[in-house]
Amino acid sequence: MNEEQRLQSQQVKTVDPSDKKSEKDYSKYFQRVFMPPSMKDAKRRGKEAVKYHEDFSIPEEFLGMGKGRKFYIRTYGCQMNEHDTEVMAGILMQLGYEPTDQPEDANVILLNTCAIRENAENKVFGEIGHLKPLKMEKPDLLLGVCGCMSQEESVVNKLLKQYQYVDMVFGTHNIHRLPHILNEAYMAKEMVVEVWSKEGDVVENLPKVRQGKIKAWVNIMYGCDKFCTYCIVPYTRGKERSRRPEDIIQEVRQLAAQGYKEITLLGQNVNAYGKDFTDMEYGLGDLMDDLRKIDIPRIRFTTSHPRDFDDHLIEVLAKKGNLMEHIHLPVQSGSSEILKIMARKYTREQYLELVRKIKKAIPDVALTTDIIVGFPNETEEQFEETLSLVREVGFESAYTFIYSPREGTPAAKMKDNVPMEVKKERLQRLNELVNELSAKAMKKYEGKIVEVLVEGESKNNPDVLAGYTRRNKLVNFKGPKSAIGQIVKVKITEAKTWTLNGEMVVEREAVEVK
Ligand code: 5AD
Ligand code: SF4
Repeated sequence: MNEEQRLQSQQVKTVDPSDKKSEKDYSKYFQRVFMPPSMKDAKRRGKEAVKYHEDFSIPEEFLGMGKGRKFYIRTYGCQMNEHDTEVMAGILMQLGYEPTDQPEDANVILLNTCAIRENAENKVFGEIGHLKPLKMEKPDLLLGVCGCMSQEESVVNKLLKQYQYVDMVFGTHNIHRLPHILNEAYMAKEMVVEVWSKEGDVVENLPKVRQGKIKAWVNIMYGCDKFCTYCIVPYTRGKERSRRPEDIIQEVRQLAAQGYKEITLLGQNVNAYGKDFTDMEYGLGDLMDDLRKIDIPRIRFTTSHPRDFDDHLIEVLAKKGNLMEHIHLPVQSGSSEILKIMARKYTREQYLELVRKIKKAIPDVALTTDIIVGFPNETEEQFEETLSLVREVGFESAYTFIYSPREGTPAAKMKDNVPMEVKKERLQRLNELVNELSAKAMKKYEGKIVEVLVEGESKNNPDVLAGYTRRNKLVNFKGPKSAIGQIVKVKITEAKTWTLNGEMVVEREAVEVK
């Protein structure tokens, strides 16, 4: 069945709301929006230029929509999703909704979902199930599913079949359409589905309600073109497209003026930044070099792909200043054979060479990584190559995962002879090594003085303050509340496996800063 027949068989009319003409006619003629995802379309990578939309605004007729109503958003997954939540909260507040942290008080509940592994998805389906009684109790409550899972055909079909009480499903490319989608949901009796499986545009001027006043996220690019064989992200987030540097620089300047102390530049593959510009040669190194001149104390970026990590970026990062000496550099596996089947486009040796270059330029750099164990047919020897690489690099921490097949990706079609018990056992062995290396890295801090950006009270003890060092280590220490939001010097008294304890020092005592 082709796309058209499939839609006809569902007896729903579709419109392309990105087409201005149909958008005008659309509310007049159609009762509901129905744009289901297509993984086939999501995979397409055309040559057409990225469309930049500078003119986001909320149509006047929707402005009072949220008056007297509250919203609640639950976020799953990565920082990109966290930041999307900030945008959705911004749009909802412009519509007049107020935030609440109690789902029971909300008139709109959104689940901003992650599709990276099966257990992430199961959690969301569980949560949708938990919300059913609330939805039944409050029929005027709108329940929406958005984020990466909604870009998957199988997920939308499952929602349509088994979770008919969900009111709205919208995709990662449809966030700016939230006012229209809500409006449709208030009018429609059936589920409103709007998921564009497109390569993606860049929409500027979106409102944002940031979660904190100290640290902020800034998107520099969207999407991913790497198509690692295990990964769903290129399908859920569209093609690689970069924001214009002037827009990013302006956003960072504004954040600095508002008193933010740290920004993290976000993208699924930040090292590909600028590769899609047709009018200039400008990459992540150039961007970082421009941003480091802005008067903001700390700049970080995530996530890197080793393949695109170039010498210019290393050279710029070595200038330090407000560029932090922490690099998250996902390796995924230490075996060149597995890396090849993963389509990572680098070998073990090339990764190690990159690490050598980085360490030469920035000797005190902290490297962290992501690792997948139990990729289809991974042998014991190949797994041991991962262990040896981890030891050789000396990662200070790592996110480790058991491979999870994702429908529609090439790896999901591979036969796999590794039993789950073996995968679990490998994960445990890897985690033991990672813990050992982390504890070793932490131990070195004992007796040293570090710079800490104080974020607030410690989660477990309100008398203790907590914040992060330049190299992204969490420090708990006693100090005055007035230090919150400031960068202070802390002497480390005790190293734990994942955190440091310390005491704040007055300026004149600070002699050794690492
Ligand atoms: N299974 C397990 N882990 C995965 N990751 C991405 N896709 C999968 C998958 N199918 C991991 C990678 C990536 C991190 C964000 O999640 O390590 O870097
Ligand atoms: Fe999850 Fe990836 Fe989507 Fe982030 S981009 S929410 S990690 S699937």
